[in-house]
Amino acid sequence: FDLRQWHTFQLPVKARYALEVHRPRQLLSAVAAAREAALPVLVLGGGSNVLFTGDYPGLVARIAMIGIHPEVKRNGDVLVTAMAGENWHELVTFCLEQGWFGLENLALIPGSVGAAPVQNIGAYGVEVGELIESVTYLNLAQGELNSLSAEQCKFAYRDSIFKHELRNSAVIISCTLRLRTTPEINVSYPALQQAINASAEAGDGANEGTGGDSCHTAITGHASRVSDITPQQVYDAVCAIRRSKLPDPLELGNAGSFFRNPVISQAQWQSLQSEWPDMPAFPVPAEPGKAADWVSEKAPQEMKVPAAWLIERAGWKGVRRGNIGVHDRQALVLVHDFKSAAMTETSGQALLTLARDIADSVAEKFGIELEPEVGIQPPGSWSR
Ligand code: EPU
Repeated sequence: FDLRQWHTFQLPVKARYALEVHRPRQLLSAVAAAREAALPVLVLGGGSNVLFTGDYPGLVARIAMIGIHPEVKRNGDVLVTAMAGENWHELVTFCLEQGWFGLENLALIPGSVGAAPVQNIGAYGVEVGELIESVTYLNLAQGELNSLSAEQCKFAYRDSIFKHELRNSAVIISCTLRLRTTPEINVSYPALQQAINASAEAGDGANEGTGGDSCHTAITGHASRVSDITPQQVYDAVCAIRRSKLPDPLELGNAGSFFRNPVISQAQWQSLQSEWPDMPAFPVPAEPGKAADWVSEKAPQEMKVPAAWLIERAGWKGVRRGNIGVHDRQALVLVHDFKSAAMTETSGQALLTLARDIADSVAEKFGIELEPEVGIQPPGSWSR
């Protein structure tokens, strides 16, 4: 089975068996059969966070269950249950159109609803874990559906229980999000605030938002007052920033950020600062599960350094090797130019080699280890 359309790197790789899953029961019997034949099983959503370094020797199951079910609460919250196969960005857009707020900062993230809690997707100051009420998953060992509260999901920066204890035994079936019918704006991420101010100054008229009084407040000149900003403006600004920096996977294969942003000790940060005074870094908040980006604390123990800055300073931004390379507008994104004919058969391996070369040179220059954020197949390929 040709996997090109099933993952956003669009590498020319194949799976021995493939299954599109519309009902949990289908998955249970396919997994049982694969296990009997001693074949590995990989469950995919939108395939936007995976690197295949070669053909997959077992069963790839793609979750295709769809449906969105809202439940309006008396206090103005809406519990929106979305099936795992729904497209994430379409859900964000749909909720904004309905006047259910909270997801705007997470617009345009590629992938499916079911994949969102696994790596606790986050962008522009918000992580999905903050909005999740519960997650329902299929327990492959017991063959039954279970539910976890947000707390039980153990959300942290690009991390959750689904990457650890439940790694091989759980398949997410649906997510319930707690959204609000009154806007609650988060523009703590400086680049987002700047983009909104710039568009207000340019008189874009982007304030024709959905629902809520503040949505109809005319913005004159400067939008620095958070109460003047609408969810629609946040959504538009996030989409504009992402479109300007991140490649469209339909045009240029990629899996978003290839590495996590590394977290280093305060002591290491201080010693690096003497050599690299312009190295950006942001304090990591103490509580796990809180959005780690751009939150200021008085005495942070640890600092998060943008991997993109390290990679750019190590000279990798825009570097190409045949049809793979480092994106020229965001150094944290590795790309596969599937429209180019060069090197197609070995692109997955070549991407892995490129990623390792980048990590080695960053380690050598700054003494900081980069860890992949993307799931590399087969597991264990990263460690040498
Ligand atoms: N920077 C550079 N060179 C670049 C790009 C960025 O030096 O080519 C520096 C700049 O100093 C910039 C800083 O890095 O201010 C941060 O860049 P950016 O705002 O683009 O965010 P990021 O840290 O690179 C993270 C997430 C993204 C998310 C953005 C916005 C991770 C691993 N990545 O990227 O998530 O969209 O913040 O919140 O945390 C993803 O996970 O796939 C993803 C795209």
